[in-house]
Amino acid sequence: MKSVDILIKKANEVLTVVGPKRARKGKEMSRLGVIKNGCIAIDEGKIVYVGKNSSGYQADEVIDAKGKIVLPGFVDPHTHLVFSGYRDFELDLKLKGYSYHDISEMGGGINYTVRLTRKASKERLFEEASERIESMLIHGTTTCEAKSGYGLSLKDEIKILEVNRELNRKRPIDIISTFLGAHAVPEEYREKKDEYVKLITDEMIPKVAERGLAKFCDVFCERGYFDKEESKKILVTGKKYGMIPKIHADEFSSCGGAELACEIGAISADHLLKVSDRGVEMLAKSDTISILLPATVFSLMGKEFAPARKLIDSGAAVALGTDLNPNCYTENMQFVMQLACFYMKMKIEEVIVASTINAAYSVGVGDKVGSIEKGKNADILIMDVPSYTFIPYHFGVNLVETVIKSGKIVWER
Ligand code: NIG
Ligand code: FE
Repeated sequence: MKSVDILIKKANEVLTVVGPKRARKGKEMSRLGVIKNGCIAIDEGKIVYVGKNSSGYQADEVIDAKGKIVLPGFVDPHTHLVFSGYRDFELDLKLKGYSYHDISEMGGGINYTVRLTRKASKERLFEEASERIESMLIHGTTTCEAKSGYGLSLKDEIKILEVNRELNRKRPIDIISTFLGAHAVPEEYREKKDEYVKLITDEMIPKVAERGLAKFCDVFCERGYFDKEESKKILVTGKKYGMIPKIHADEFSSCGGAELACEIGAISADHLLKVSDRGVEMLAKSDTISILLPATVFSLMGKEFAPARKLIDSGAAVALGTDLNPNCYTENMQFVMQLACFYMKMKIEEVIVASTINAAYSVGVGDKVGSIEKGKNADILIMDVPSYTFIPYHFGVNLVETVIKSGKIVWER
């Protein structure tokens, strides 16, 4: 008998999500690797056994998962976690029919949050983000990506990335940082965007890289923000300094964002509502993962979602994320999965793969998390539902009962 820290026994279904050691593309996204009556042994933070027969193991903590399902912790691969203040007032404007761009012109949007975030101390940002992390965890997210982008000055971008690093150290979720100095043109550079792009490439990127504050470099490639050329310049510079490119691509207009992502070998292209046919084709052939964010469309009361079916049926790898930000205020990946199923017609299996292993690969941690396999981190959820089909079916409530992060029970209902 081998003694381990935690033994989970007799789960109705264990969704292992095992498969090739890369993001799952096209039809591969339908495979969950379900083990019925499954058991998992966890020791020293890692998964040491997955299968049907746990008779060789004993543990002080034995969890009977009869009637329940066990799955990998969710990875949220696209968040703007650190910001100060809220924009609930924009909801009223959206209800009156104003668009995202209208609201931004009226003084809302990204630059509104930039003003509040610049004023906030690191301690304050840490506290505000900590509450969001608690909510993420309760809803099953055990790893997330977090972007800067509400500072838009060297000092304030660094401040946000330092808060990310502090949160990663002190909070139970793993946080992977992205530098998004090119989130918007700050007000003081309104008439001189060129100078702002230069500030990003010549000062911000070198300083962020020197201090090892970000794994990824992202750009909002969009009409009125940064065009394809500017985006390319920023991402290529980031790459030169060791930051892997990511792109907010083709959200409101078709700007060639998906094509650029594939050309420069971005790890992901995100949003993609207006992706061109050529963009879809290129994504299908490349290793760039399409991160879709249906909660953003929901928050903007949009009618058109990203073409998930077209992407998957063409053979692309799709991941899902919340896009948590003051415009799209949710920490709940279950809700995102429900939207993906109901509005983008993604299959139930696909939304699970997209929120676990594919999301993990889209932030460069697919070798460590995102599936339940021997040797991987024990980031595991127990849901009080008889089958994974209930994840979209029983919507609008929190189905998570237990969250295990790196082998420790960090939350229980
Ligand atoms: O991913 N699209 C650009 N940036 C965010 C929105 C940020 C904001 O509105 O504050 C997004 O949706
Ligand atoms: Fe975003």
